[in-house]
Amino acid sequence: MARKKIVAGNWKMNLSPRKAEKFTKEMRSVINTDNVEVVMCVPFVYLTMVQEILDGTKIKIGAQNMHYADEGAYTGEISGKMLSRMKVPYVIVGHSERREYFAETDTTVNIKALKALSHGLIPIICIGETLKQREFERTFEVISKQLAIAIHDMSEEDIAKIVIAYEPIWAIGTGKTATKEQAEEVCAAIREQLRTQYGDIADSVRILYGGSVNEKNANELFNMPNIDGGLVGGASLKPSFEKVVHYQ
Ligand code: 13P
Repeated sequence: MARKKIVAGNWKMNLSPRKAEKFTKEMRSVINTDNVEVVMCVPFVYLTMVQEILDGTKIKIGAQNMHYADEGAYTGEISGKMLSRMKVPYVIVGHSERREYFAETDTTVNIKALKALSHGLIPIICIGETLKQREFERTFEVISKQLAIAIHDMSEEDIAKIVIAYEPIWAIGTGKTATKEQAEEVCAAIREQLRTQYGDIADSVRILYGGSVNEKNANELFNMPNIDGGLVGGASLKPSFEKVVHYQ
């Protein structure tokens, strides 16, 4: 069965409430596709508003992070259980910015992803190498380790549900997109690793590319055999996000 592409926008910590409302309404009126699953990952405080605006459309919402505990004394945190109760279907886990600024590790990413799955959320698990690691030709080794730990203890059923986002750190917010060949070879390697461990289920896992995706490069990237769409930062805040979604 063909894998349905996903285009997920990651707003990160951007937009005022008024702009968030206006932009979501704009996207609601211009995005209409059955070929692609569209997800908007917005700041926690906007989830309910965006969800209400998008009600009745095919656009889904996602959170950008979650805590692995269900509840408790974790001031300032939001649990996967809360997201699930609020009917948020997707959650980004282990974004490189979380790893860099908030001390997330491969192990916490694994714990969060397992917890997300246990609450029926779909984790979009991010992995990616730094520029130094690429220059020292360690990309495959780094990605393989990040992936192995992120999916530790996952069942075949879990694997069929997760989404993986390959986001080379040097391509994030830099305007320096990986070439379609660079992105494809890593996404293909990720799928091969999944196949070695889980067999043919690997063919149903959606693997996204992220890093300076825009309306100009989406088409060539998303048409590569092992790239099943994208995780889009900067371009998900612009009207041209509609063009990324309708990339064909
Ligand atoms: P940019 O598209 O702005 O490079 O960000 C990518 C990203 O980090 C998406 O999660």
